[in-house]
Amino acid sequence: MEEKLYSIHHRRLRLGKRIRELVNPFRISHRNFIYPLFVDESLTARREIEHMNGICSETRETVFEAISSTLASGINKFLLFPIPAKKRKDHFDFSFAADLVAELKQSFGDGIWLATDICLCSYTDHGHCGILNEKGDQVLNHESVKVLGEYAYLLAKAGADCVAPSDMMDGRVGHIRQQLNAFALEQVTIMSYSAKFSSQWYGPFRDACHSAPDQSLGIKDRKSYQLSPLSSRDAVQCALRDEAEGADILMVKPAALYTDVIWSVKQKTNLPIAAYHVSGEYASVELMAAQGVVDRAKAHLEVWAALQRSGADIIISYAAPFAKSWIENYDF
Ligand code: PBG
Ligand code: ZN
Repeated sequence: MEEKLYSIHHRRLRLGKRIRELVNPFRISHRNFIYPLFVDESLTARREIEHMNGICSETRETVFEAISSTLASGINKFLLFPIPAKKRKDHFDFSFAADLVAELKQSFGDGIWLATDICLCSYTDHGHCGILNEKGDQVLNHESVKVLGEYAYLLAKAGADCVAPSDMMDGRVGHIRQQLNAFALEQVTIMSYSAKFSSQWYGPFRDACHSAPDQSLGIKDRKSYQLSPLSSRDAVQCALRDEAEGADILMVKPAALYTDVIWSVKQKTNLPIAAYHVSGEYASVELMAAQGVVDRAKAHLEVWAALQRSGADIIISYAAPFAKSWIENYDF
């Protein structure tokens, strides 16, 4: 008889919608979401990114409208990816990105919190995240960090609230912090892509940014700078290193396949952790939803719940504009 009582005990708290609501709070709210924005200098009209169900690359003009409609959904934090029209090997021209940041902050002010991705892969003609050696078989760390520092400084000066280095070079967080502080920009936040894995799940993004690595060179992938999917140890070490160098927010990316990494980093730091549910992860949910395999809203909510459980404080998602209404109406 006693056994029966125990087995009933667990279901009592799941029996109805109200009791589930009471005991299963969704602790992450739409306030903790960041929405990625792509702005492509070469476009004359907004362009839908393949497999991304409605996510577009914006033009310098349409981005204002995109931000306004996202604001109406309750999301006011953005991660900007400026995509310049001209690709080069070095001596990059950052003026498109800097002017864009300045215009956006002039127009929206404190109405938006604007983070900008700091990387070179949408600037380089070979698609790598840094500067290559003569031979074209290695990404040069020191040279790349110098340029990234310059880029971060220019965007911070233009008014970015946050710079988010995603290149995975060693020492870039420390260098960027030093640059910002030297020019009285110490109030600008650094959100470091600390644990960024070399992943299959960035496909749609690379299409949007025209940043897939050139296959005719000696170096054909990002494995010499992005983390191996097998190494959570490397991820934790990079996160702690970035914290020591002055990062304010640590990111894990991709998110849903790396919840163990979010958890491990969480155990070692008190900094806020951002989880980036990347383009391929978003696309996989959207493709399944389109085929009727899953319910779109519920599938995204379940991913977000996983990220919350594992310790994410911030979620970067292409579905962010739906977060408010989906979370409000959730029933787990
Ligand atoms: C580039 C960068 C990538 C993403 C953000 N910044 C991809 C890459 O390394 O090629 C991925 C974002 C996404 O897939 O949504 N440094
Ligand atoms: Zn890059």
